[in-house]
Amino acid sequence: MERRHYRPTYHASIPSGWCNDPNGMIYYNGKSHLYFQHYPYAAHWGTMHWGHFTTDDFIKWELQPVAIRPDQDYEVICGCCSGNAVEKDGRLYIMYTAAQPDRQRQCLAWSEDGGITFTKEPSNPILTAEMLSEQVSTRDFRDPKIIVRDGWYYCLAGTRIIDPALPQPSPRAYASNMSGANTADLVHHARLMINPSDPNGDVLGGMIDLGWGNLILFRSRDLYHWEFLGRCLYRQPGFSEHYYTLNGVYECPDIFTSNGKDVIISSPQNLPQMGNSYQNQHSVVYIPGKMNWETGRFTMDSINELDAGFDVYAPQCMTMPDGRIIMIAWKEMWDRTMPMTEDGWGGTYTLPREVEFKNGRLYQNPVREIKNYRQNKVEAGAMTLKDGSLQVKGVEGDIIELDVTFRPLDCRTLGVRFFKGTEHETVLTFNAEDSTVVFDRTNSGVPIYGVEVNTNTRTCDIDETDRIRFHIFLDQCSAEVFINDGRFAMTGNVFPDAEDTGVEFFCTGGSCEIESIVKYDIIVE
Ligand code: FRU
Repeated sequence: MERRHYRPTYHASIPSGWCNDPNGMIYYNGKSHLYFQHYPYAAHWGTMHWGHFTTDDFIKWELQPVAIRPDQDYEVICGCCSGNAVEKDGRLYIMYTAAQPDRQRQCLAWSEDGGITFTKEPSNPILTAEMLSEQVSTRDFRDPKIIVRDGWYYCLAGTRIIDPALPQPSPRAYASNMSGANTADLVHHARLMINPSDPNGDVLGGMIDLGWGNLILFRSRDLYHWEFLGRCLYRQPGFSEHYYTLNGVYECPDIFTSNGKDVIISSPQNLPQMGNSYQNQHSVVYIPGKMNWETGRFTMDSINELDAGFDVYAPQCMTMPDGRIIMIAWKEMWDRTMPMTEDGWGGTYTLPREVEFKNGRLYQNPVREIKNYRQNKVEAGAMTLKDGSLQVKGVEGDIIELDVTFRPLDCRTLGVRFFKGTEHETVLTFNAEDSTVVFDRTNSGVPIYGVEVNTNTRTCDIDETDRIRFHIFLDQCSAEVFINDGRFAMTGNVFPDAEDTGVEFFCTGGSCEIESIVKYDIIVE
């Protein structure tokens, strides 16, 4: 079998080195910018730089020079970690976390040339935990996201809250957390980088403050002087205690308003599994509710897993001039093997998604610009399938968009097999009995290992099951599945062989109707 070429064709990807979180997504100077966590020198996490892409349509990405490097003493070891970009008086500013293993502080830099090069503010770091509140952990205070609102710059960041009135995680739990490869914590990254053979070794004094993960809101008139407003997550009836006693950080927060609803997005580390949700070691949640912009207190309507698949982390959103909210995430998960690192690069991003809050959920759909890259349409439909499977001539490929709508009738399961060859297949199954969709990569190809007991199947509870629409985007080594018009999403990386291009529809235990099948090749020249 031919070894698969791992590089995606219509997703942002770097030619070499390492990338993780999207940073500072902004529409500025006539272009969309995506900065990102980057280590240019090897295909593993290292002292962070900010890489930079620009795009006119979210599909074709132009790699720009590295935007900022860790060249200051306050950035030693962990470097310039995640943050965000904001326009102020026509100038592009970024705020990022200067991280050392035992200390995280916020810094500013600005660009005079449209976002290509940056000057770091001489008085950096401009903001420390101590300046805000003694509740804010000095060791975990990161990933600032700035929002402009009513003449203020508001900033949302992840931290651990040091509040003597709150029960604290035990040092033992914390220490054991640090000792295995089971955390995305910066201390862990740094330990591995400094001494890969001794991930428990001491790094700059190591562990100090404990505290449970939370989000904090603060504000400023000028980006330099900040006022602490408060922590966002408070106990509310009906929510699991796990959300308030997170032994980790709510990383990479974001907040936007969609159809009148405030929505927080964040990536909690080590959130325990609850039912079928949060099966990954680290998760992404969206929380619709209401922000109190004076106190930071967020009244939550619900908390939901953003993507029920395997590989979505640290999403960030930007608002376009036409009002669309566009979200992009790191299409990987910490503490997993990443087969593409064999080729000297590591890290991919999701297809940018248009997000909208409606009917009680955050709908996600691929950016509409993808339609400009459709070719070779094949259509079929209006057929009944009874206990069996079928293939449709011309419906195949590994760089395709596949849109299929089923009506379950009396069957037990129905679904699609894709990336299918003689030895491999990736399977998406709707189970009528319990209204779930299962994404199964057990036999997809090169196995992926992680710290979770199960790295091969993920289950999504869905509602509205009269009609099941799977809108699937394959790009050689990944599948992004938008279920029922984007009401649910499941994303997974898989590493099949180059020959694994088959697509097959199936149904068991009765019959289903296939209303329509549409396939396009996605071709980016
Ligand atoms: C999330 C994260 C951030 C941090 C960055 C470091 O993936 O751990 O919290 O700023 O990665 O690269």
